[in-house]
Amino acid sequence: MNEKAIVARLAQLAEIGKHAGGIDRALATPQERRARELFAKWARDGGYALTQDAAGNLFARRAGARTDAAPILVGSHLDTVPTGGAYDGAYGVAGAMCALELLDRRGITLQHPAEAVAWAGEEGSRFPLGCLGSSAFTGLWRLEDVLALSASDGVMLRDALNSAAGGLLPDVPARDAQRTAAYLELHVEQGPVLERGGVPLGVVTAIAGQRRYSITIEGESGHAGTVPMQLRNDPLGAAAEVVLAIESSARDAGETVATIGRFTVEPGGTNVIPARVIFSLDVRSPLDDRVSMVEEAAHRALETAQRQRRVQGSMECLEARPPAPMDERMRAAVHRAITGMNERAIDIPSGAGHDAMCLARIAPAAMIFVPSIGGRSHVGAERTADADLERGVEALAAAIIEVDAALGEN
Ligand code: GLV
Ligand code: MN
Ligand code: MN
Repeated sequence: MNEKAIVARLAQLAEIGKHAGGIDRALATPQERRARELFAKWARDGGYALTQDAAGNLFARRAGARTDAAPILVGSHLDTVPTGGAYDGAYGVAGAMCALELLDRRGITLQHPAEAVAWAGEEGSRFPLGCLGSSAFTGLWRLEDVLALSASDGVMLRDALNSAAGGLLPDVPARDAQRTAAYLELHVEQGPVLERGGVPLGVVTAIAGQRRYSITIEGESGHAGTVPMQLRNDPLGAAAEVVLAIESSARDAGETVATIGRFTVEPGGTNVIPARVIFSLDVRSPLDDRVSMVEEAAHRALETAQRQRRVQGSMECLEARPPAPMDERMRAAVHRAITGMNERAIDIPSGAGHDAMCLARIAPAAMIFVPSIGGRSHVGAERTADADLERGVEALAAAIIEVDAALGEN
């Protein structure tokens, strides 16, 4: 591997699932599988032992001196949102592979095995929930429940992972269950803080808690020309009020964000009064009680709409993840690694969710951020400068060495 390998690898990945608005690589689609195939090729070329598990997570293992030691896992995800960029997730996976190769090139022997990991389905784009692979791996969710999830196109994850088009890779052995010694994740910041501060690296303090909901409002459908306004039970008008109430409660809560990113109006005719509106809600905050405040505001707004507009509303919480603080000792190890490179880093919270949220529940975990140009992410225009990408890989390799030492005999 040369210093530019990370840039070249991200360019290779960026071709997979590319469309006019960005990159679309949803879990267990042919595109996402091609990205996993590429990861498998890198692993084989690098001489790393490749394994996969039933959730679709892929692991490339670099041996350590101690054969009995639990591995340090280093990963992120290869799936994207429907109009994703080239770096969110892909950087942490390709970066992990590059970091392992860097350790090889420098002839470094670690005590622990180190595994580059591509976690399955972090975004929750095709299947309704995020961090599917890492939730199953860590036992936060039962594998059977994860595999029973249905995609927006009606396909069950179990079937999608069994299909030739988007399924598990053939000829890759199953990974044995084993303890995780520690977890590291490299990621683009996806916000503007590092760039604005002119700082090349960030060490994540904690990942914001997040909850995802599905909200449904049912009214009475009818003819757009004949039903007088005062006789309508229009669920879309009610939804508009609920959406605005959610927006203002998140603003008032402070340090809290709420997003309605999916919105369906049924039956969807220009000249038909809607019968039903279904929309998603994503609420996040480093403070879990603020998320609860927005949830309560949404419930109150739904009750008001029901009373005033003669509609029926319901709200289902699909996914709830508490804030995830990163491990103090791991953060200190990452800072030592960066200082050892004569680079600067600041502590930074993460508003975005990451697989590290799940791994932090079973092992000491830390994350490294590099700047995102213009702070943009989840858009095709997501960018990070080549020099920042390369520096991040160097920091990750140095952090793996520090963590290996800090773990001692564990
Ligand atoms: C993943 O990118 C998320 O934060 O939703
Ligand atoms: Mn990500
Ligand atoms: Mn993302």
